[in-house]
Amino acid sequence: MSSSIPVQRHSARDFSDRPVALDTLRAILTEAQLAPSWENAQPWKVYLATGKTAQHLRQSHQDLNQQGTKSWTEVVPPKDWATLPQTNITAWQQNMQQFYTANERDQFVSRQRGLFNAPAIVYLTMPKNSSAYSAYDLGAFGYGILLAATRHGVSGVPAYELVRYPDEIREAFTIPDDEAIFMGIALGYPQTDSRVNALRPGRSDLNDILQVRD
Ligand SMILES: Cc1cc2nc3c(=O)[nH]c(=O)nc-3n(C[C@H](O)[C@H](O)[C@H](O)COP(=O)(O)O)c2cc1C
Repeated sequence: MSSSIPVQRHSARDFSDRPVALDTLRAILTEAQLAPSWENAQPWKVYLATGKTAQHLRQSHQDLNQQGTKSWTEVVPPKDWATLPQTNITAWQQNMQQFYTANERDQFVSRQRGLFNAPAIVYLTMPKNSSAYSAYDLGAFGYGILLAATRHGVSGVPAYELVRYPDEIREAFTIPDDEAIFMGIALGYPQTDSRVNALRPGRSDLNDILQVRD
């Protein structure tokens, strides 16, 4: 792929049925492996669901949601966010409320519950006994996957939703007990006519997060 293609990445949450070729997925993951990490620690492992396994996971996830099964994650998010992220989260929620009609919001939730109809799902683990630096490394790897996917014409969304029923993931793969399922990334080709895919969240003004001394 040409490196001159500008990266216009945003999350897609409604994928078509078109599968992503395994060669393409392997190329995406290989490029993402160039992510820097603490003394090249590379603390991540990747579990990739495609075909029948992805289909099974989409169905079981939908069923668990429908049954109202209590969810949990192996890496616990904070109960209270610090002011900076909480302010941005609130702005995102308000933006989403305004952007979508009630029907579109229902569609958004329904796609999420069915794992976005993703033909390929990447689950990322790291050792349970990890420091915050490994979380930094894993995040770099995850963003590497999203950027490489964009270069290959594949869309994606990193999502907490993907990992909030860890048992279904552990049933599908052989994942050692000392690894924590940290994050999931759904990959595929977006449904072009779907409003769910039209959300384009903005970013903080650079001047609000940057301090320069010359
Ligand atoms: C750790 C993490 C968890 C996320 N969880 C979800 C999720 O459960 N559902 C969802 O629709 N999007 C999820 N997202 C996607 C974010 O909402 C999205 O990246 C953010 O709003 C910025 O939008 P953009 O990716 O389109 O630029 C998550 C992103 C990250 C990094």
